[in-house]
Order: sequence, then C-alpha cells, then structure tokens
Amino acid sequence: MTNTHAEGQAVAEVGGMPITAEKPTAIIEVRKLIKRFGLKNVLKGLDFRVEAGEFVVILGPNGAGKTTFLRILASLSRPSMGKINIAGFSLPDQAAAVRRRLGVVSHQPLIYGDLTAEENLQFFARMYNIPASNQRIPEVLKLIGLNARRRDLVRTFSRGMQQRLAIGRAVLHDPEVMLFDEPHTGLDQDAATMLDGILQEVAARGRTVVMTSHDLPRAADLASRIDILSRGVITASIQRDKIDTSQILSFYQQATNETQT
Ligand SMILES: Nc1ncnc2c1ncn2[C@@H]1O[C@H](COP(=O)(O)OP(=O)(O)OP(=O)(O)O)[C@@H](O)[C@H]1O
Ligand SMILES: [Mg+2]
Repeated sequence: MTNTHAEGQAVAEVGGMPITAEKPTAIIEVRKLIKRFGLKNVLKGLDFRVEAGEFVVILGPNGAGKTTFLRILASLSRPSMGKINIAGFSLPDQAAAVRRRLGVVSHQPLIYGDLTAEENLQFFARMYNIPASNQRIPEVLKLIGLNARRRDLVRTFSRGMQQRLAIGRAVLHDPEVMLFDEPHTGLDQDAATMLDGILQEVAARGRTVVMTSHDLPRAADLASRIDILSRGVITASIQRDKIDTSQILSFYQQATNETQT
C-alpha cells in the first residue's frame, strides 16, 4: 500500500516494514512567489515545481505574469517575496551558479548588437567556460541557420535572425534547464521547425524545459505537462498524456475563467 505521508515523501509498507522514499528532487521549486511593481501585485503567491526532464508549457492570458515569472527564474528580475530553488541553488542570492545551468530566451534577446553572430557566441562561450567551443560554435551556427551570416554585426540582423541567435546562445552550453519565453515569436516556418527540433532533441536527452506560448497546437506537440498561469498564480496543471488534444482549449478556458472575480 502506498500513500502520501508528508509533503515530499511517499511511504510504502513492505512485509509490515514501512519504507520511506523521498520524492524525486525538483529541479525547479518555487514557493509563494510574490512580485510587485509599485503597488501592483503581479505574482500573487505562485507555487511551481518541476522535476528534471519535464517539458512544461505555461499558457495564460496577456498580462497574466508569465514573462515576469520567467524573468525571475532567469535571475533577470528579483522576487519581492518567496522561495526559489533551481538545480540546488537559491535565488536571488546564488544567481551566478543558477545562470550557468540555464539557457534563456526572453523577450529581450540577451545578445550584443555591436558584435557579430560568431563573436556573440564566442563571448558567451568564454563566459561559461565551454570546453571545445571552437567546435561547438560552428555546430550551433549551422543548427540555427546563421552560418553564412556569422561575420555580420547583429544590429544589422532581422528580428527573426536575432531570435535565431538568441536561441543559439541559449543552447550553446547545453544547459540543464531551458527557460523559453515565446521563443517562436518572429521565426519563419523553417526556423520555427528548427526550434521545435532543438526542443525535442534537448527534451529527449532529459533536459528540463519551461516554455511559455500562445500556440496551443505547438504546446500540445511539445509539452509533457501544461500549466495555466492566470492572474499571478498557477490555476491548473495537467500531464500531457492525461488530456486529449481536443480538450486543451476548454481546459485553458476553464482555468483562466474560474479565477475571474
Ligand atoms: N517593469 C514593469 N513595471 C511595471 N509593471 C510591469 C513591469 N513588467 C510587467 N509589468 C506588469 O505585469 C503584468 C504581467 O506582465 P507580463 O509581461 O509578465 O505578462 P505576460 O503573461 O507575459 O503577458 P503576454 O502574454 O502578453 O506576454 C502586466 O500587468 C504588466 O503591465
Ligand atoms: Mg510575456
């Protein structure tokens, strides 16, 4: 017989002897996260837990707090209150250790306009101490389809090309956890397919992905879990294999409406 004994523990009895097994350690654990901008509460005590290897797509209405949440996880913004632990390190105090383990694509691409595409990747390779970066960089440039433009200044790039480079930079150091905020925005069909391929490949290798999206079919294809963030908290969470693709829209609608006052 197995039942939940206390938070984080599963208790089983074998031959009358209780055996206590720890739940798998979460790679991301967020408790009661609050973020205020002035007097405005944007995140309102948000709880969130991700096991290593999950692919969580966060869906939610405009202004719900998705970008705010991902920016805090990425240590680009500080929480007002609450506990955050990523890969065993806490935020905001151990931000440097957390950053090494993260690949981030945010609304503002974390790349430098006055460097070429190649120089941007070289800069980040040095920052992360990436071994064999002289092999990894050409590999990534090919992966994101920017090899022919590698010597051009990034400020001369189109938006989609900048987004491709932002993705390349995020996956360059093969991070344990990827935080992607609407990463398909601005990408053409080929690049979007390329990104889906990258995401599927990193997920297949057991990496953890948290991605926001407004694209339900894409979320349905990629996610192992779908969470709904509405009005500053996670209002619903479901394993992808527990929901039929045709039901995702009504799941979303229910989880975003029921919090309305
Ligand atoms: N720097 C800031 N100063 C003040 N308010 C902010 C700031 N950043 C975000 N907000 C507010 O926080 C709320 C949540 O914004 P956020 O960008 O996190 O939403 P979102 O869920 O990502 O929306 P979208 O789907 O449009 O990307 C909004 O009301 C926004 O105006
Ligand atoms: Mg956003």
